[in-house]
Amino acid sequence: MTHTPTPPRAKLASTGRYNPPKVVTNADLESMVDTSDEWIRSRTGIRERRLADADTGAADMAAASARVALERAGLDAKELDFILLSTATPDRLLPSTACDVQALLGASNAAAYDFSTACSGFLYGLSMAEAHIVAGQGKNVLVVATEKMSSIVDWSDRSTCVLFGDGSGSAVVQPATDGRGILSSYMRTDGTLAELLYRPGGGARIPLDISVLDERSHYVKMAGPEVFRSAVRSMCEAAEKALLRAGVSGDDIDLLVPHQANLRIIESTAKYAKIPMDRVFVNVDRYGNMSSASIPVALDEAVEQGRVGEGSLVLMVAFGAGFTWAANVVRL
Ligand SMILES: CC(C)(COP(=O)(O)OP(=O)(O)OC[C@H]1O[C@@H](n2cnc3c(N)ncnc32)[C@H](O)[C@@H]1OP(=O)(O)O)[C@@H](O)C(=O)NCCC(=O)NCCS
Repeated sequence: MTHTPTPPRAKLASTGRYNPPKVVTNADLESMVDTSDEWIRSRTGIRERRLADADTGAADMAAASARVALERAGLDAKELDFILLSTATPDRLLPSTACDVQALLGASNAAAYDFSTACSGFLYGLSMAEAHIVAGQGKNVLVVATEKMSSIVDWSDRSTCVLFGDGSGSAVVQPATDGRGILSSYMRTDGTLAELLYRPGGGARIPLDISVLDERSHYVKMAGPEVFRSAVRSMCEAAEKALLRAGVSGDDIDLLVPHQANLRIIESTAKYAKIPMDRVFVNVDRYGNMSSASIPVALDEAVEQGRVGEGSLVLMVAFGAGFTWAANVVRL
């Protein structure tokens, strides 16, 4: 099927990030569970991650990354029309974490809501922001991803606890100008695979009670190898579809900014999209998997390091629990 690219309708005006200062290395984890630096590095590429302290919530990290993005966009929080917040680790189950961020920022003219698409959240959020802008509902939309993964991983389960980290990344999305903006989007979901990566207990189906705590079923459970295979397949598919829809090829892409779960998944995606590793942004070694915060933190670092700037063509590709997967081609 051929695809006629449409002019962009919404652009990323600015980005921001926040990572907690506490660094936890693989060596630190060796004293907590039966693991080794060598095992973690060779299987995942991760060397260290940042973990938030007990007093720092998902909303605090979100507000911190949002303030950076707002300042870079030259916006006051009162000028925001929407706050769209992606998290798998809400501070409370009711109300949404977006409400807390709206209050922390003093965004008194914004509508704010959470959405839950796990690691694909930032890319789903860009499409929601674009839709609000196209519908004429607002001009200044904050997309913020924030994850305190340390609060939902089982610190006695070596197969998951070594993989994740905490942090937040933000973008201000505004109407497109001068050909800058989101050139293509691709999003998919397969809920039949939900139980390969999930938290069985603690929700409405199995409310939190003593048996949930005893069985530790409120923590993340993951079938690692199955998730790995689906991640590679889905990220390759999403990259291909987003490139096709934008009418560009891997050769045209200045930088691939993939979800940072595992270096081997990133390398497979890059190879499939025909993008050499020197045009791929990698920071999983320093942060681990920050779920939906991974891509905006990586994009913000790439901008700060001068790897990309205004006019650069960027491919972002994500995969996460659900399963959900997504990709965007964006002219920054
Ligand atoms: C989790 C993952 C790194 C495991 O790597 P793997 O090579 O598939 O390893 P396996 O799960 O097959 O486990 C191999 C062995 O290592 C062991 N192991 C698991 N975690 C370990 C750890 N942290 N340290 C040391 N050994 C560990 C297992 O117990 C298993 O031992 P066994 O062979 O004696 O049973 C890999 O499957 C992965 O990255 N999956 C995708 C995860 C992901 O990205 N999730 C988020 C998606 S958004």
